[in-house]
Parts: sequence; structure tokens; C-alpha cells
Amino acid sequence: MSAWPDDARPDAAPPVRLRKMRRADMTAIMALEQELFPEDAWTPEMFAAEFAQPPSRRLYLVAEHGNALTGYAGMMFTGGSQADVVTLAVTPARWGRGTGTALLLALLDEADKRGYEEVLLEVREDNPRARRLYLRHGFDEVGIRRGYYQPSGVDAVVMRKVLR
Ligand SMILES: CC(C)(COP(=O)(O)OP(=O)(O)OC[C@H]1O[C@@H](n2cnc3c(N)ncnc32)[C@H](O)[C@@H]1OP(=O)(O)O)[C@@H](O)C(=O)NCCC(=O)NCCS
Repeated sequence: MSAWPDDARPDAAPPVRLRKMRRADMTAIMALEQELFPEDAWTPEMFAAEFAQPPSRRLYLVAEHGNALTGYAGMMFTGGSQADVVTLAVTPARWGRGTGTALLLALLDEADKRGYEEVLLEVREDNPRARRLYLRHGFDEVGIRRGYYQPSGVDAVVMRKVLR
């Protein structure tokens, strides 16, 4: 048995902290957005339009490590039975340490609490890392949207997770 409780081990990685996204996060988010989605980056205007939506319709979260913003994710609640993951991003230096999982699970948990029956998302066909993450968390690949991402023309894989 370890001499240290889990949260006191000297080499224990600090846990991912999640909180709601704020307008003041936009500079860090736009930098990550350009880095991670060079062909399909959202513009500040697109994020502003999302901020203008009521909390009943949207949830945007950020992950922090120390003082740095290390990731973000968003979900759209349409009011029917279906919620959509609209974005998920983690700074490359932090990949593989559970930040993407923490963000995704927080969104799924919220959809579940709000009584949604299923969660859908689109992911680039050429993004095996993200597809694996979603498969691991109970999403199935249910369709293809040909040429969905423009201007690249890359296909989108539609994935769905049934909550209830
Ligand atoms: C896809 C993405 C969000 C994943 O984020 P992440 O923080 O690396 O995700 P996680 O760390 O939770 O899981 C990723 C991998 O790390 C592994 N992992 C998770 N926690 C870990 C830990 N504590 N220690 C070691 N490995 C771990 C997982 O098993 C997983 O392995 P796999 O890729 O071989 O399946 C991130 O790579 C990203 O931002 N990519 C670019 C943008 C993008 O593609 N977004 C999705 C658009 S739909």
C-alpha cells in the first residue's frame, strides 16, 4: 500500500479543473482554435453568437491547469431529445492526460441531468484520436456527411451516444 493518500503523492498530477467559459477567455481560446483547427477555425464572431444564447441552450466549459487555459468544450441543447457536442479542444502539450475526457464527461453529465435522450456530434474522418475518445465513451459511428468540412472537403463521421 502506498504511504501517500492519492491526492498527496509528491508526483501526483494536479487534477483537471473545469469551469464555465467567460468572455475573458476568448484570447486564449482563439489562439488554440487557430492552432488546432487551422482549416475550420471558429471566428470571434461565432463565439460571440454562442455567448448570446441562453444557458438553457448552450454550455461552454474550459479546463485549467495552474493558471493556464488548457482546453474547452461546448454543447448545444436544442430543446428536443437531442444534445450536440459542438466543440472539444485540448492544448497539444496536455494531450493524453485526461483533459479531453474530463471535458467530454462533464458535457455528457449535463445532458443527462437535463433529461436528454441522446448526444450527437460530428468529427473529421481523418481524426482518429478524437474518434477513439468518443468510441471509448460509448458513442457509435452512425453515419457519414460527405464533404462536410469546407474548404478541405473532408467527410464528417456522425457519432451518437444514447443516454436513456
Ligand atoms: C481529441 C482531443 C480533444 C483529446 O484530448 P486529450 O486531452 O488528449 O484526451 P484524453 O487525454 O482524455 O484521452 C486521449 C488519450 O490519452 C489517454 N489518456 C487519458 N488519460 C490519461 C492519463 N491520465 N495518462 C495517460 N494517458 C491517458 C487515453 O487513453 C487516450 O488514448 P488514445 O488516444 O490512445 O485512445 C485532443 O487530442 C484535441 O484537442 N485534438 C485536436 C482537436 C480535436 O480534434 N478536437 C475534436 C474535434 S471533434
